[in-house]
Amino acid sequence: LNYLSEKSRREVADILLNGLSRLEYRGYDSAGIAVDGDRDDRTEIFLFKQTGKVAMLRNFVDTQTVDMNRKFVTHAGMAHTRWATHGQPSPINAHPHRSDSRNQFTVVHNGIITNFKELKTLLEKKGYPFESETDTECVAKLALYLFDQQKATGKPITFHALIKMVIKELEGAFALLFKSTAYPNELVAARRGSPLIIGVKTDKKLKVDFVDVEFGAEAPPSPYYDAASTPKLRRTTSRAFLTEDGEVQPMEFFVSSDPAAIVEHTKRVLYLEDDDIAHMSGGELHIHRLRREDGMSSIRAIQTLELELAEIMKGKFDHFMQKEIFEQPDSVVNTMRGRINFENSTVQLGGLKAYVQTIRRARRLIFIACGTSYHSCIATRAIFEELAELPVVNELASDFLDRKAPIFRDDVCIFVSQSGETADTLIALRYCLERGALCVGVTNVVGTSISRETHCGVHINAGPEVGVASTKAYTSQFIALILVALQLSADRISVAERRKEIIMGLNSLPGMIKEVLAMDSDLRQLAKDVLFKEKNLLILGRGFQNATCLEGALKIKEVSYMHSEGILAGELKHGPLALIDETMPVIMIMTRDSIFTKVQNALQQVTARRGQPIIICNKDDPEMPSGSRVIPVPKTVDCLQGIINVVPLQLLSYHLAVLHGVDVDCPRNLAKSVTVE
Ligand code: G6P
Repeated sequence: LNYLSEKSRREVADILLNGLSRLEYRGYDSAGIAVDGDRDDRTEIFLFKQTGKVAMLRNFVDTQTVDMNRKFVTHAGMAHTRWATHGQPSPINAHPHRSDSRNQFTVVHNGIITNFKELKTLLEKKGYPFESETDTECVAKLALYLFDQQKATGKPITFHALIKMVIKELEGAFALLFKSTAYPNELVAARRGSPLIIGVKTDKKLKVDFVDVEFGAEAPPSPYYDAASTPKLRRTTSRAFLTEDGEVQPMEFFVSSDPAAIVEHTKRVLYLEDDDIAHMSGGELHIHRLRREDGMSSIRAIQTLELELAEIMKGKFDHFMQKEIFEQPDSVVNTMRGRINFENSTVQLGGLKAYVQTIRRARRLIFIACGTSYHSCIATRAIFEELAELPVVNELASDFLDRKAPIFRDDVCIFVSQSGETADTLIALRYCLERGALCVGVTNVVGTSISRETHCGVHINAGPEVGVASTKAYTSQFIALILVALQLSADRISVAERRKEIIMGLNSLPGMIKEVLAMDSDLRQLAKDVLFKEKNLLILGRGFQNATCLEGALKIKEVSYMHSEGILAGELKHGPLALIDETMPVIMIMTRDSIFTKVQNALQQVTARRGQPIIICNKDDPEMPSGSRVIPVPKTVDCLQGIINVVPLQLLSYHLAVLHGVDVDCPRNLAKSVTVE
């Protein structure tokens, strides 16, 4: 919505299409925009929707005969990329959805409407026919139905009051944006359970730059988070901007579920809260609460994103996944920065400081996560048990919720999530909050639902991760969790030496990761010569390397579409051994630690069945069978070795994906951030 300078509608469409390209990394399957345009001298809302990549949508828009050349000072447009939940990817199922063939109301939605069937049945009965298989369409139809009813009473209604009525009928999770021919150049946004931010752009020439002049103090994003190591947000408040009566300057607004789409226009954003209804009209923004009675203020702080556009650009790399793998020597340093004192072997995570004693007294530590984040919990479980001497349970969020597992007030629940928005993890968090457990967040993206709703937490500071397959977030989560274990065990004299050893090991990780990255071309060759033609791959290991096997196999599945499984070597003889023969590709992780002889037994079991594993082992290990293919890696402390060992597997999966011609950063059917249950 623009009030700063004249723009043609075509320019507005371009802004929307560019925003969608920035979100393409999230791995969606169709896209669409709604913009105003003229045809036969009539101004209408036009919907353009396509399956596939945003480039296809852009080409499609270019072929249209709609006149979008007229210039205006105010515009309201909307755009969406979709990851199918209800209904196949197709133009008709793509967003924006519409209320009727005249496009009176258009809607984009992120999330899921769980009562859509009931609403659809009701609206169809009332004579509002549906055209798509999505849950979202009922929202657009409901808006028109309530609008028509209101019109019949003869009393006018504001756009936001109408949307309030719509939202009251919805169940589920949503970030919604509405546009309407009945309210030209206005937009209404609303959220519950799905993230939504509003970027605010002001003209530099404005006399009152409310953000800097009025407030401007530095503040952490949440009182619980570690301010020193999380310099990403600057909190300032503008009542003039946010209340209905104050002095308001005209401005441009960018509403998005992801900062990546708007950072090139503005870095000033505010985060909407659940049940906020934001109304943009006439260059002003007003935030209303769904229910006044809930007593929550509708003033939202303006925060400054420190995300740089360069950080979400590929630079010299071919793919984001490749860039992110190669960033790891730096990203692991960013996770540790300012948190470790190497001289006296202490670790200080500011965001946990006030809670350390409570966590130590916990009945159990319960780690809850999905996908790669879950693997980082498996990777660090043993070190928590060893250093903190607490019972540790790892839970996949979806399974935890299915079981409605018992949670007690003296449990400490730790939620690990790169995006901080994964629906399963977020719902599990709310479940644990209700039961009175202390909830800790370990997230990468700042300001997300999980970081805001937990009592305390740690940001892993890996920087924006764009590739759908998580790489640098995994190694940073791994390190952040090790740091938590170190902080919890600071007073235990019996583990003082062990802690020192680990802290020294952390210091040398970046150099070791670089050594592994230097093998990139060898790994590409290995992928090409040995694994490319294969259909299956087993990755075997045990102990600290269990997580490495699972994560390596997940990477290979995700981006090369090859069937691969991570198998705990101790379980080999209880089933998977039946798969082994001279044709089954196997990777074995055999870096040295206290259970090395047990892994050697597993190797015997494999070679005795004529298996020919590729072995990940420490450099110059004399005990590797002669003639076997090896991937030599530097040796570090046992509990950190998984950080080094996962890197060649990330590189192998990347090269397999490229060889298979997969769209590496957007593998089919997957999304970066799964905000539906
Ligand atoms: C999706 C992504 C995975 C990720 C998982 C958990 O499935 O494709 O890469 O590991 O979600 O995401 P989170 O943001 O909670 O770490």
